[in-house]
Amino acid sequence: EKGGYEHFMLKEIFEQPRSVHDSMRGRVNSATGHLLLGGLREYLNKMIHARRIIIIGCGTSWHAGLVAEYIFEEFARVPVEVEYASEFRYRNPIINEGDVVIAISQSGETADTLAAIELAKSKGAIIFGVCNVVGSSIPRATHAGAYTHAGPEIGVASTKAFTAQVVVLTMMGIILAKAKGTISETDYRKLLVELETIPEKIEKILSNHKQIEYISDLFKEARNFLFLGRGYNFPVALEGALKLKEISYIHAEGYPAAEMKHGPIALIDEEMPVVFIATKDSSYEKIVSNIQEVRARKGRVIAVVTENDKLISQMAEFIIEIPHTHEALMPLLSVIPLQLLSYYIAVMRGCNVDQPRNLAKSVTVE
Ligand code: F6R
Repeated sequence: EKGGYEHFMLKEIFEQPRSVHDSMRGRVNSATGHLLLGGLREYLNKMIHARRIIIIGCGTSWHAGLVAEYIFEEFARVPVEVEYASEFRYRNPIINEGDVVIAISQSGETADTLAAIELAKSKGAIIFGVCNVVGSSIPRATHAGAYTHAGPEIGVASTKAFTAQVVVLTMMGIILAKAKGTISETDYRKLLVELETIPEKIEKILSNHKQIEYISDLFKEARNFLFLGRGYNFPVALEGALKLKEISYIHAEGYPAAEMKHGPIALIDEEMPVVFIATKDSSYEKIVSNIQEVRARKGRVIAVVTENDKLISQMAEFIIEIPHTHEALMPLLSVIPLQLLSYYIAVMRGCNVDQPRNLAKSVTVE
């Protein structure tokens, strides 16, 4: 059932061209300009008029929520807050009638997320679910929702569910922006066209797995890792660090690259691998200077860059090239090498990647 792969996690990473395609199937058509999420239709009007949107989730699902925050705010011009479900539910949050809550969960069974939904519902919020497991508890507790259609995810570390969540949330953001009139026709078309190219671009990144395996071998003994990104790639830095720590047990931290100078830079020495997610986007120049700061302190730089990046290839010890896409869709590509890196490092360290110690696939305890 692992389809010839050594682990479910690897199988699920390699399934992403397909699963991303599945999460868009029947929903996007760039040729006709069609973009539709059935579950959203009934609540679209309420969403358009929402004064703010609160996104809740845990772990990787919370990271997908962070990507969505950037997309919703940029294109749909609606204030978004992203909260850990566990913090949200215990701090007497301010929820007003008509507020929209988006709950993200692969399993649909996460106890904290479910409890946060019940709380928000009791205060009159509209709850929209983005879940993978059909018929699970969270979709049953929400007013409406959209399934991610990534297919069953068996590996404890979430991979294809994350990219599917980001795809669905991106579609939601674009639909909302279109309905509100806050997105230009050009941007709208461009995003749809680019969305449809994501599966083949993921395929291309996966075909480069040998190089990532080679880099993994050189860093498998590291005791710490830093992951840095800016803008849309900031949540990807957090996700890269989470993947690595949960399956390889290497201590890793993700940070927005600009925060480095406020503390973490003190950690940099010749033993500290720093993974930069430094694709060509609006924060490119800024992240290039962050790379220089790390190099100046002898940190070992691995950089995920856009194809044909000549500048960073001269600065970093290793580069991993990925195809270009719209800045807002980049997390769908830039996360892939980080999933592979953590997978290979964990396997090389002899870890049980599909069932890491102390972790469960659905966290049904509070
Ligand atoms: C990380 C991971 C966890 C889950 C979290 C939420 O790889 O799998 O952090 O993302 O437990 O789970 P769901 O999405 O099922 O609510």
